[in-house]
Order: sequence, then structure tokens, then C-alpha cells
Amino acid sequence: MSNSILQYSSITKKIVMALVGLFLLMFLLVHLAVNSFLIFDPSRALFNEGAHFMATNPLIQSMQYFLFGGFILHIILGLILQIQNWLARPVRYKIEGWSHTSPFSKFMIHTGIIIFIFLLIHFINFFFVAKFGEVPVFADTEMEDMGLLVIQVFKIPGYVAFYVVALILLAFHLHHAFQSAFQSLGMNHSKYTPFIKGLSTVLSVVISLGFIAITLVIFFSSRYQA
Ligand code: HEM
Repeated sequence: MSNSILQYSSITKKIVMALVGLFLLMFLLVHLAVNSFLIFDPSRALFNEGAHFMATNPLIQSMQYFLFGGFILHIILGLILQIQNWLARPVRYKIEGWSHTSPFSKFMIHTGIIIFIFLLIHFINFFFVAKFGEVPVFADTEMEDMGLLVIQVFKIPGYVAFYVVALILLAFHLHHAFQSAFQSLGMNHSKYTPFIKGLSTVLSVVISLGFIAITLVIFFSSRYQA
């Protein structure tokens, strides 16, 4: 009985994690699109307009509560599921079975922890500065020069190196997470599972390489001056 409650609750946790994870993925795609404005327009005007719109639009601002709530829920449920998993299987299998999902599935907790550390640093550098710090005004506008803030940070070699490593691990995390979310939602069928797996590869590579490209272009290009 108690075992069935545990099983039921762990399935519920997985479904919630899947839904929240897919929501976070949507955020990442929008975030990547807005950040790519910096590459298309090194003058920073386009990016600053995008950042200004995101920071002043009431609908997007209210979505931020869901975003932060989503991140916290995703982290807490991920930790609980991992601990339950460890407790249920204290002795590691000598022969590891072939994973039906992604080879990265065994490292979700590890990649997750590094992404969490990355997010903390990212928040300190950008989010907290934007909300509570002093950001210079862009040219003759009333917009904050968020682009300048990004360029200042992305000219620091140690930060860029950590960023690239974290973003590679983000690809590993997303690669398993995306296909696993569909499994948790019961969408597992020989007809469309190969498509979902392919899509998870494409999405994880595009998101990771997209963020890495922005970081490296700003770091190496002299068109971006802090
Ligand atoms: C090239 C890479 C990236 C750049 C240039 C960048 C830039 C920024 C900036 C400027 C902000 C502050 C926005 C504001 O408050 O006005 C921000 C916020 C944020 N970033 Fe990033 N970011 C990058 C990658 C990532 C990645 C990979 C993640 C997640 C894994 C992420 C998650 C977040 C979150 C959750 C926020 C707070 C929510 C928000 O303000 O919209 N970012 N980022």
C-alpha cells in the first residue's frame, strides 16, 4: 500500500517535472532569440530594445513568477526523485543495462547541479544588477544598456570558460530531459518516439551552440568593446 503511494507520487512528480521542464525549454528558446539580437546588431540597440520590452511588458513580468517558481519546483522534484532512486537501488548494478533513452540519463543530477551553479552566477551578474544595481542608460534613450553589461561580463576569460563548459553540460541535460519528458507524459510509441529523440538532439544542440556562439563572438570580436 505504502509502496503504491510512493509509486503514484513519484509518477506525479515526474509528470510535473516534465511539464515544468517543457515550460523552461520554451523560456530558453525565447531567451536565446532575444540574446541573439546582440550578434545581429553589435550596436546593442536591438538587444536593448528586446531587453527593455521584456522588462517592462506586464505579461512577461508576471510570467517571471512562473519561471522562477518553475526552476525551484524542477530542482526540488529532481533532487527528491534522485534521492528516492538512490534509496531504492543502494547497490549499483555491476552490468549497466543499455539505456533506452539517452546516454546522458545517468548524469542528470550532476549536469543539473552545475547548471544550477551556473544560474546562480548568471543571476548575480545580470538579473540582480538589472533589478537592484546601476545599469547605464543606452545612448539618448530611456532604456538601460543591458547589452553593455553582457559585453563587460563576456570579456572576462574565466567567466567565458565556465560559461562554455556549463552550456555544453546544458546540452547533455536537455538531450535526455526532452525525450524523458514525453515518456513521463505517457507519449511513448514506436511511430513518434524516434522523431522525439531526433528533435531532442536538434533542440539541445541548437540551444547550447546558440548560447556558446553568442558568448564566444562577444569574447573574440573587437566589435564589442566594454
Ligand atoms: C549567451 C548567453 C546568455 C546571455 C547573454 C544571457 C543574458 C541574460 C540577461 C542580460 C539577463 C537579465 C535580463 C533582465 O533582467 O533584464 C538574463 C536573465 C536570465 N537568464 Fe540569461 N543569458 C544567457 C544564457 C542563459 C542560459 C543558458 C540560461 C538557463 C540555463 C539563462 C537563464 C536566465 C534566467 C532564468 C534569467 C532571469 C529571468 C529573466 O530576467 O528573464 N540564461 N540573462
